[in-house]
Parts: sequence; C-alpha cells; structure tokens
Amino acid sequence: MDEAIRWRAGLIGAGRLGSALAVALARAGVTVNAAYDRELVRAELLAGRIPGCSVAASAQAAVDSCELVFLTVPDDAIEPVCSGLEWRPDMAAVHCSGAHGLDVLERARQAGAWVGGFHPVQTFAGTEADAERLGGCVFGIEAAEPLRGYLEELARRLGGYPLVVAGSDRALYHAAAVFASNAVVTLAAVAARILHELGLPADEATRGLAPLMRTTVENIERLGAVQALTGPVARGDVETVRRHVAALAARLPELLGLYREVTRQTVALAERRGLDVATARAILAAVQAAQES
Ligand SMILES: NC(=O)c1ccc[n+]([C@@H]2O[C@H](COP(=O)([O-])OP(=O)(O)OC[C@H]3O[C@@H](n4cnc5c(N)ncnc54)[C@H](OP(=O)(O)O)[C@@H]3O)[C@@H](O)[C@H]2O)c1
Repeated sequence: MDEAIRWRAGLIGAGRLGSALAVALARAGVTVNAAYDRELVRAELLAGRIPGCSVAASAQAAVDSCELVFLTVPDDAIEPVCSGLEWRPDMAAVHCSGAHGLDVLERARQAGAWVGGFHPVQTFAGTEADAERLGGCVFGIEAAEPLRGYLEELARRLGGYPLVVAGSDRALYHAAAVFASNAVVTLAAVAARILHELGLPADEATRGLAPLMRTTVENIERLGAVQALTGPVARGDVETVRRHVAALAARLPELLGLYREVTRQTVALAERRGLDVATARAILAAVQAAQES
C-alpha cells in the first residue's frame, strides 16, 4: 500500500476536479509535488492550498518532477495534452474522465509509462468543499497492475469505494451514475411539476421538495436503500397506489408509464424487506392496469 503514497503526484489541469483531488490526496498523506494549469493563477491558487506543492513552469516540468501525473484537463484535451508530453517508464499517467478509456493515454503507454483511469462518481462545482466531497464516493478504476492496485489504495485512502471497470463495462458503469444523478434530477422535476399542476409556483415547488430529497439521501446513506424505503409500496398499501394511478390518469396521464416503472422497481425493493407476495402482486396489477391515454 505505502508504495502508492510514496509516489510523488502532480496535476496537469487545476480546475474543478484537479483542485479537489490534489487537496484530498495531500490530506490523505500523498505527496502532491507539482501543479500545472495553462491559467497560471489557478495553479498558484491550488499550490497555495497544499504544503510542499510547487507551481510547475510547464506541463512537461510537472511530468518530470512526479511519478504519478493526473491529467485533469477537460475530456477533449486529455489526448492532445498526453501526446504532447515526454513520459518515462518509471511513472504513471492517469486521467479522471468517466467518458474515456485508456486509448487517450496511448502516447504515455508507448513510452513505457503505466496508464490508468481514476474516475470519481461525484460532481464538483469548484468550491472549497469539493475536496471533502471526494471522500466516500465510488471510484471507477481502469489500469493494469501494478497501477491498478495503487489506484485502488488511493481510492480507499480518500475514504472511497474502488471499483475496477473493464473498458467493455464502461457504458454500464456510466448508466449507474446516470440513475444516481441525472434520473434523480428528472424525478425531482416530475414531482415539482405535479405540485405546480396543483398551484404552487414552479421554483417554490422545486426548492420546497429539496428537504424531503435531502433527508431521503441521508437515509439511503445511513440505512441502505432497502431500509430507507418508505411510502405506500413499502407499507403494502394497495389502495393508495390505485388512487395514485387514478389521479395521474385523470390529470397527468403522460406520467403513468414512469409511475408504473418506478413502482415495479420499488416493489422489488420492498420484497427484500418483507413485502408479501400477494400484496406485491396486487400492487403490480394496479399499476399494470394503468393505461396511458
Ligand atoms: N467536474 C466534475 O464534476 C468532474 C467529475 C468527475 C470527473 N471529472 C473529470 O475531470 C476532468 C477535468 O474536469 P473539470 O470539470 O475539473 O474541468 P475544468 O474545471 O474545466 O478544469 C480543467 C482545467 O484544465 C485547464 N486546461 C485545459 N486545457 C489545458 C491544457 N492544454 N493544458 C493545461 N491545462 C489545461 C483548464 O483551463 P481553461 O479553463 O483555460 O480551459 C482548466 O483550468 C475531466 O476529465 C472530467 O471528465 C470532472
């Protein structure tokens, strides 16, 4: 393990993720040696937050002074930046993109460097709190050994959950992030739309649902999805589900398909905490009967 944190780390790209990662790595005991950004002031700001970290005069200078270089530039810049640098066999080049495989690091691989992907399943807006937000998240890792083991250890050091993702599984892995983030936004918008239909201004509906959503997320984190589940399906309240279906059919029939699919998945979750088979079937029948107009 200690091998991982003995490597001197450097960053090319001191933007939202690069800054959060560098600060979090340094707090976790990793030597963060060099920061480079084409906007000098960004590298200076970052280096100022990390004891012992210098501003590299160029991307090449960052590579030359480290064993582990994170290319935290925007996705489209990873390949051109990597291709413009001289890499060594005794080092690693790592990107943090969820969209790219290792092909964008081909130039480094050809030079004998280890190459890897280290993608935090989290979103960073560029605030000082971002470094804490790295803790406890899933890290999708793609790399051959020994770099794979090092990156897994780094993820654990950051308080996260490493998951080795083969290139062929990348799309499936990304779909999980879409469910956990984009789909939640979509469901929040759907819920707000219903409240708006009932008369609440749209912005108040969105903001006013946030406390419920926040508590739900906290419960998921604390208890796990099965125990965090509340509501009519978890209680086996078939009549309430029927009333939802009737109300949606009358006022917002275009939401019935979504309600049906979400309820199906909710029934599967509720069964894991003891919903009996007969009630589960009754709920599924209630939503199955719903017809979109
Ligand atoms: N932000 C997130 O939520 C998040 C989450 C997970 C993964 N990631 C991944 O993290 C990586 C970085 O994303 P980000 O959101 O942190 O981007 P970002 O905030 O735009 O930061 C990228 C930084 O790299 C700089 N840069 C661009 N081209 C460069 C070059 N040729 N040489 C040196 N520096 C250059 C940018 O400067 P300019 O502004 O002048 O272009 C900017 O300071 C991406 O691979 C992204 O997929 C991001």
